[in-house]
Amino acid sequence: MDKSQKTLLSGIQPSGRPHIGNYFGAMKQFVEMQSSHDCYFMIVDYHALNTIQDAKVMRQNILDLAIDYLAIGLDPKKSVIFKQSDVAAHTELAWIFETLTTMPYLSRAHAYKDSEAKNKEISVGVFNYPMLMAADILLYNTDVVPVGADQKQHVEITRDTAEKFNRIYGDIFKLPEAHILANVAVIPGIDGRKMSKSYGNTIPLFSTDEEIEKAVMGIVTDSSGGVPKNVYEIHKLFRSESDLMKLYEEKAGKYKDLKEALIVDVKKFIGPMRDRRDELTKDSDAVLKILRDGGDRARKVADKKMDEVREKVGVKLY
Ligand code: AMP
Ligand code: TRP
Repeated sequence: MDKSQKTLLSGIQPSGRPHIGNYFGAMKQFVEMQSSHDCYFMIVDYHALNTIQDAKVMRQNILDLAIDYLAIGLDPKKSVIFKQSDVAAHTELAWIFETLTTMPYLSRAHAYKDSEAKNKEISVGVFNYPMLMAADILLYNTDVVPVGADQKQHVEITRDTAEKFNRIYGDIFKLPEAHILANVAVIPGIDGRKMSKSYGNTIPLFSTDEEIEKAVMGIVTDSSGGVPKNVYEIHKLFRSESDLMKLYEEKAGKYKDLKEALIVDVKKFIGPMRDRRDELTKDSDAVLKILRDGGDRARKVADKKMDEVREKVGVKLY
């Protein structure tokens, strides 16, 4: 690891296929930033236990996400790629943070409020979720956390938690910054709402050609003007706006033609990445080895920090 570089950490839940919102909102930045930062990329499997309670599905999802990471271009030679459950310090530190954080404070977290608004039965895991995320980030002296806009509050909670610990026990945690690119902070789905697995409005990142066609043809258009907003908003992820201006002028009002042009662009983009993914799928042992090695590297860093934490709170006697 290069000491002069800033440390970057991010994570994604192994909760199903990633979509282009995940890619443009977060994953693309992971790939771009790995040459200029010391990077940790996590598969946050313990977070995902809040929603996935089937061992077979969990196992498959973890492997799939590891393959996704490699297929988009994350490189185990440059970055530490690992799964959260391989580093016990994450849950251990989360517990310590939970003893410092009040219920009213965590009740203000959006994810909790959303679940509450839907009248869901909320597990303690969902309620405490931001504490585990704070531990994920703070164990590695992280400077930068690239995420989509929906995670901004979680990074703020992480900062607050670090400050509170530092104030009570002495300064040991660095305050991280969220890295959110304004133009891709919220990628819209095919219905114009935020693209999200839970809305069923996604274009999966590793879609087949048929899936791409179906999703794009399903983009909701309104008939208010020549430019179908939802088509355009997705299209501009794949082509420059100056290019698009010409196309959308020429084809004003011709929604089917515009969707067909978008299909061509999405296929061109996804095809090579999907091929790379198919290759990686053939050797799952190699992928598991990358995860295991990544876990070993992460553990060295996290365990050292955890030891300092135990010292600070007074439980380290020998
Ligand atoms: P999730 O699938 O919720 O675990 O999200 C993984 C990453 O993708 C997080 O950094 C999110 O902020 C980001 N993300 C998810 N959906 C979108 C979206 N529609 N637009 C931009 N970023 C997103
Ligand atoms: N909460 C994030 C999400 O749902 C996932 C996550 C867990 C994460 N720990 C993290 C992201 C640490 C960045 C850094 O998308």
